Parts: sequence; structure tokens; C-alpha cells
Amino acid sequence: MPWDALWLNAHLATMATGRTKYGAIRDAALGIAGGRIAWVGRRADLPGRPEVLATAVHDAGGQWITPGLIDCHTHIVYGGNRAHEFEMRVEGASYTEIAKAGGGILSTVRATRAAAEAELLEGASRRVAQLASEGVTALEIKSGYGLDRATEEKQLRVARRLGERFGLTVRTTYLAAHTLPEEYSGRADDYIAFVCEEGLPQAAKAGLIDAVDAFLEKIAFNEAQTRRLFERARALGLPVKLHADQLSDGGGAATAAAFDGLSADHLEYTSDAGVAAMAAAGTVAVLLPGAFYFLRETKLPPIAALRRAGVPMALSTDCNPGSSPVTSLLLMLNMGCTVFRLTAEEVLHGVTRNAASALGLTASHGTLEVGKAADFVLWRIAGPAELAYAVGANPCTGVVGGGRPRVLARAAG
Ligand code: NIG
Ligand code: FE
Repeated sequence: MPWDALWLNAHLATMATGRTKYGAIRDAALGIAGGRIAWVGRRADLPGRPEVLATAVHDAGGQWITPGLIDCHTHIVYGGNRAHEFEMRVEGASYTEIAKAGGGILSTVRATRAAAEAELLEGASRRVAQLASEGVTALEIKSGYGLDRATEEKQLRVARRLGERFGLTVRTTYLAAHTLPEEYSGRADDYIAFVCEEGLPQAAKAGLIDAVDAFLEKIAFNEAQTRRLFERARALGLPVKLHADQLSDGGGAATAAAFDGLSADHLEYTSDAGVAAMAAAGTVAVLLPGAFYFLRETKLPPIAALRRAGVPMALSTDCNPGSSPVTSLLLMLNMGCTVFRLTAEEVLHGVTRNAASALGLTASHGTLEVGKAADFVLWRIAGPAELAYAVGANPCTGVVGGGRPRVLARAAG
């Protein structure tokens, strides 16, 4: 049986573990069949003549091919924006002060509750199109700007529709425990009870939830409340992840690890004990340089300790209106290197293999290996490090998702 398509004259950054940096194979060929990768290797090792092997044969013109990029932590579905709070912050107010004064997440909750579903879809589509134009083929989308049953579900439905509209793999995460809604003021335990007994099971029953997240922080929920939610999630068979130790050390990394968390995210204030717990549980560290930069944080996440402990590190935009209005995953590669001092190979693993792991998609995504989804990106670059090097450049010339070529929203540059 011939393959559906074969790419020749390409260099592959497979991102699979192997002997070479980036899992690179030069002068390579890539065959696909039925939406999956059917063959990966050196051109010289192809088991026959290209025209016999595949129905369509493409010349990649010496370009590099990577796996489709994965943005594993976004809050991309929301109403309004928070440019006015940015203005306040650059004039001296802090993120925490704005949040305590009823702004912050709650101001986006008001705008998201007020927005019609179609309006949310259009707003998020513009942002998703930007990510997709840079080679993103899979992304995670969180709720958390509804905090009531109807609006959380509205956000999650929009997330699913974005996947269909753009032909992307979307993993949805239920984040009702993002902050305390105004109507529950002073009654955080009651709100968590509502989330555990009504919001979560009902949205799960509607098939809207792939994972459950919470914000464990002084300005959000405490450890006991987070644990209660995670116990409920695990009882429903859902994996968990956590906004952990972003603004203070709340023991979040260890809490996520205790529930076999897929990931613990942010981690600026994570302790050595938290790092050790993540390593033991296989929990991925999702690092968010956009939020660190945008909030002008000064305490770096414990990158060296994570590296030493062998904790897989992923990298994401954290696209949201308050702390990271970022729609460029390539920019995060650059900031991962310059701001977080990761290597170019580490940041590329962070948006491919390790990002897949943070979403529980290891079996099907994140590397160019036989049997995985035919999601990949063609880049006009001389080597993979160029993806992390240039700021504001977009060398993406083509994207294949699920074996089908994508139309890019803009001309390739
Ligand atoms: O990942 N940390 C909590 N949640 C978001 C911020 C959300 C917001 O400010 O709207 C984050 O940074
Ligand atoms: Fe976030």
C-alpha cells in the first residue's frame, strides 16, 4: 500500500530521544498515511522509489520540519481585554493590588459572562489564528473566566469549536477554581463545594472537560480547597494540573505531584521539595516566560534544580488578558532562552515533546515518530536554533495537521 504523501529534501528535527541534538536527521524523508506518520528516516534509506512509495511526493526544498508546536497552557477564550489595568500597572499599581480591588481576573469574568458565545468564538479565533500561523497544531484551553455553571460551559464549548474551526487538537481544562466569584465573597469553601458537586460533574458529563486545574495562591484558593477539588476530579477519572507557586510558595508543586498531576505551571517560588516531588511523580514543569515578563517578576523559576532533577520542562504562552496577552509561541522560545536561560534544544522540547506530555498526549503527539499524528511544520531556517533566535520573525512556510495541509492565515515570510 503506498503512503498518502512523502516529503523529500528535508531536514527533520524529530525531537525524539536519540543520539543527535533535536533528534535531527539531515537529508531525510517523511512519509504519511491515514493521518499518521508512516516513515521517518534518511532519504538514502527509503525502501523504494518515491513515486512507488507514495501517492503524492513533495520537495521540501531543503527546509527543516519539526513536529507541530503545542501550546500547553492558555486561557485564550475570554471577553474584553485588560489594557486599562496594564496602564495602571505601568503607572505603579501591582497585579495583586489590582486583583484585590476587584479588577484582575474578576473584571474578565464580568466581560466573559456578558459576551455572547459567538462573540467569544470570534475574539478567540483571532488569537488562535495567530498561534496557528506560527505552526501550533495543538493547544490547551482553560475555562476560569465564568465561575458559574453556564459561563464555564460556554467557554469550554467555544474551546471545542475552535478546534473544529481550525482543525487543531484542543484539550480543554476546567478552571472554575481560578478565583472566588463576587457572589461567593467570604464563602470560598461553599464555592469549592459548588464546583465539586455541581459545576465539575455536570461539565464533565457534557463531555467538555479533559483535565482539571486550580489557582493555588494567597489571592485565590488554599491547599485544602485545591485538594478537595483534585480528589473529586480524580474520582471522576480526570487528570489534574495546577497554577502553582506563581506569586508565593504555596506548596503547589508538591500538591500537583501528590495527585499525579500532568503538570505544575508557573513555579517561580517552587522549593527544592516541590521539585523533588515533581520528579518522583513525573509531573511536567510548565514554564511561562510571557507572564514572568509581563508582570515584571524578578524571581526566576528554579530552572537549574528542575534540570538537575530531570523534571521535563514545557513552555507555553499562558495566553490571557491579565498576565500574558501573548499570541506568539515562537516569542516564548526566545524568552525561554534569554529570560529563563534554557537552551535552544530545551525550549524546542518544551513546545513539542514535553508539551505533549503536559497534556497527556505523549502517545500521539510531540515527536516525528512512526505511528504518531501527521502534525508537522515546515520552516525556512538553516537549523532549529533559529526558531528561538529571531524575535518577531515567522519562518513557517507550511503546516500539516492530521495529514492535511493547512492554509496559513498569512503569507509565509
Ligand atoms: O496564568 N495565575 C492565574 N491565572 C492567569 C492569569 C489570569 C488573569 O490575570 O486573567 C495566569 O497568569
Ligand atoms: Fe495561566
